[in-house]
Amino acid sequence: MINEMLEERKLPSLLVMNDGRAVTRDIFAERRAEMLAILSDKVYGKMPASLGETTWEEVSCESNIRGLAQTRKINISFPTPYGESFTFPVSVTIPNSASADNKLPALVFISFGYLKYYPIEEILEQNVIVAEIQISDIAPDSSQDEFKEKMSRHYFTDGQREPDSFGKIGMWAYAASRVLDYLLSLDCVDADRVGVMGHSRLGKTALWAGANDERFTHIFSNDSGCCGAAITRGKEGEKIPRIYLKFSYWFCKNFSEISSSVEDSESTYFDQHFLLACCAPRKLYVASAAEDTWADPVSEYLCCVAASPAWELFGIDGFVHPDNLPEAWDRFADGNIGYHLRPDGHFLSRHDWMRFIDFLKK
Ligand code: GCU
Repeated sequence: MINEMLEERKLPSLLVMNDGRAVTRDIFAERRAEMLAILSDKVYGKMPASLGETTWEEVSCESNIRGLAQTRKINISFPTPYGESFTFPVSVTIPNSASADNKLPALVFISFGYLKYYPIEEILEQNVIVAEIQISDIAPDSSQDEFKEKMSRHYFTDGQREPDSFGKIGMWAYAASRVLDYLLSLDCVDADRVGVMGHSRLGKTALWAGANDERFTHIFSNDSGCCGAAITRGKEGEKIPRIYLKFSYWFCKNFSEISSSVEDSESTYFDQHFLLACCAPRKLYVASAAEDTWADPVSEYLCCVAASPAWELFGIDGFVHPDNLPEAWDRFADGNIGYHLRPDGHFLSRHDWMRFIDFLKK
């Protein structure tokens, strides 16, 4: 049943190189580079090359959460093209149990800054380190700054972007990688379990961050929908022309070219399973919500199925799932792609967090 549903979407091949060669495990790295190049060029814009070391400075360190943890406020800085560095804050909460002898998993949480989305006490009780960045510190989530403020000011003269320069999603994702630079310098962080997570537009961002930066071992997307974890062809709810109309600043300028054609399988040679496959063979987790029809849980589920062959190429399980669509409360997390369908609508709940943490700690 699921394969038939997928066939109807008429997706471009994941495991065929642009020149027609079949992708084997030995050349998957080349295929991943091709897929990243397509997504960079047409959707999210290019990630800038690193211009030097990321540095950091601790601004404060306080005991927090009933003495369970400490919260360090850190300013992260990285060099930018015009010579000055860009600095943004991150709030890193570290359970007291963490040490060089007891390394803990860590998560970069790309955040809107809403506390209701962050059950921090329960997360800490699970012995996970969380580094929270707020996107407004990196680049405002709006087109009103005309790409002249915060990080943009260091990359564009007078807001002028090249056709393939990154948009806001790319900037937030780049910043998540700079936080990872910091986390990996801590001897209490388990480098084999460092994830990136975000909800909705920030789920799209977490996927793009994880697709690009292979040091992220676990990638978590919550309700990311259109241009995130949902297949575009045949998608319900939000579609490309609409996301482009309202949120073109999330993407590169070239996105305008595909905004009308992406659902036409003849003229567009990618879909969102390419994005998920760029995370292979690492651990990926996609969470959907049953009533979130704008994001489209069915298209998110099918995208996991479509991306799975990239993992299987490595002789490991990709998405292990039954031959039917999921029902609310279903969770499939035996393979290297995990998925759950929560009841209700579009938000980041305690339930989602706890399932992510299970997967990170597994
Ligand atoms: C809008 C947008 C979505 C996005 C969501 C969010 O609904 O259309 O693409 O995921 O905002 O970020 O909450």
